[in-house]
Amino acid sequence: MQSSVTLDGLTFVPYLTSEEIAAQVKRVASEIREDLKDGSPIFLCVLTGAFMFGADLVREVGINDAPITFVRYSSYSGLSSTGEVKQLMGLKEDISGRDVVIIEDIVDTGLTASMMVEDLKKRNPSSIRFATLLYKPESSKTGFKPDYVAFSIPPKFIIGYGLDLDGKGRNLKDIYVIRDQKN
Ligand code: HPA
Ligand code: MG
Repeated sequence: MQSSVTLDGLTFVPYLTSEEIAAQVKRVASEIREDLKDGSPIFLCVLTGAFMFGADLVREVGINDAPITFVRYSSYSGLSSTGEVKQLMGLKEDISGRDVVIIEDIVDTGLTASMMVEDLKKRNPSSIRFATLLYKPESSKTGFKPDYVAFSIPPKFIIGYGLDLDGKGRNLKDIYVIRDQKN
């Protein structure tokens, strides 16, 4: 792990190591496997931030006949939520009668998450579950609660393992937190 990462003039320090992430991904995967072993799951990985978590999670869950597909929404610009959620790439697959598992990188205000769930309910899935790598309960504006959480974290800006600062830092294997953010 690097001792710090600087992007766009902001300094980030170590927060979660790849080993700690892997251990929690394994735990969440076994919860999902247990809940869905008799179901008909389809995984919806939310781009772009969840691509790394999604790749690790579906491999750990290990349900070979479950389709994996992608949706894309966006509400962030720089360090803060714009409050407006945009759907950038919709879902083409038929999810009716299926057990949907949404895979997200982070639930922060909960706006994207609740909008996504409401949107997907209209397509008659038999169930919808929400898995997130990171959850910031103190940032919630909606009361939305994910079904599976790898880490609950304080409301500080983080990068790495798929999460970005304006498109940068997604490649990092570990997760870093912004240094000296005033909230
Ligand atoms: N980091 C990156 N993207 C985000 C965050 C964060 O802390 N919160 C919501 N989107
Ligand atoms: Mg994101």
